[in-house]
Amino acid sequence: MIAPEHDRLPAGTTSPQEHFSADWLSLRQRLDGRSRSHCLTGLAAEWLAARPGAHGGPCGIVDLGCGSGSNLRFLAPRLPGPQRWRLVDHDPTLLALARRHAATLRDASGARLAIEARCRDLSPVDDGLLEGADLVVASALFDLVSRPWAEALVAASAARHQALLFTLSVDGDWAFLDATGERLEDDEDAAVRALFQAHQCRDKGLGPALGSDAPAVLAAAMADAGYRVESAATPWHLAAGEPEHRPLAEQLLQGWHDAALEQAPGEQARLQRWHLRRLDGLASGVLGLTVGHRDLLALPPLPARGA
Ligand SMILES: C[S@@+](CC[C@H](N)C(=O)[O-])C[C@H]1O[C@@H](n2cnc3c(N)ncnc32)[C@H](O)[C@@H]1O
Repeated sequence: MIAPEHDRLPAGTTSPQEHFSADWLSLRQRLDGRSRSHCLTGLAAEWLAARPGAHGGPCGIVDLGCGSGSNLRFLAPRLPGPQRWRLVDHDPTLLALARRHAATLRDASGARLAIEARCRDLSPVDDGLLEGADLVVASALFDLVSRPWAEALVAASAARHQALLFTLSVDGDWAFLDATGERLEDDEDAAVRALFQAHQCRDKGLGPALGSDAPAVLAAAMADAGYRVESAATPWHLAAGEPEHRPLAEQLLQGWHDAALEQAPGEQARLQRWHLRRLDGLASGVLGLTVGHRDLLALPPLPARGA
């Protein structure tokens, strides 16, 4: 993600690897918690509590691209315990922050978590990522990954009978909102969005990135692998005139602008005019924003009787 990819850092990129600031991840955390599907979280919790072997030990949970631990902080108190987490990220600074947060967390029955942090790349998809997990989770990750990587992950998890909870994958929709919440769209917004979406598909370190195709590609791979798939739209909604959301909205706008400019350097003057006009609308409280996301839960089929 790009800050505005709704996720990446606002200015500049270090292609092909993306780096995310702790400030940006912290800015989005509250809105992520408000947007994501509590229903799918509940279904994942029920599945974990009833899974085969539930009485044999702790729930193993792997958080891929954990960043500073936003996903862990949301899920740990909502999932049954005892819990044993593996946090995976290639950024040692974010991973250390996630570890620090984890020390303060408790599971749904109030017990501490067992935490293992692995500083490594998400490729290859191997035992080092997935071994011992009952549930594989990832949040705000899949726009960055390639189709082969996503399909390999789903196939490898299916072979291990693991459930998957992949949240807040961008679906490509974003729009400005007027003060009544109605969508506003002009030709300039559409042009910037097209440039931004093209930029999203650049290689972010795991091959040509899925960008906003991620939810559809994941859902198809999950269904092909025999999973029961549940899906929920989980858009960010930043209403006009809510000052607490302005820093995040302004960073998003900056990121959309920067990505579009990297994609079309010859359009600098036009993009700057668009940026200033929309920034003014956000700052004066007449514009809000919506950004489309989708959560997916994939549950493995129950083992056949006597198997
Ligand atoms: C947008 S952030 C999301 C962080 C966190 N899941 C959240 O919801 O706040 C994407 C995370 O994926 C990590 N990441 C991206 N590509 C990676 C790769 N190839 N290997 C390991 N981690 C990666 C980044 O360092 C970053 O922490």
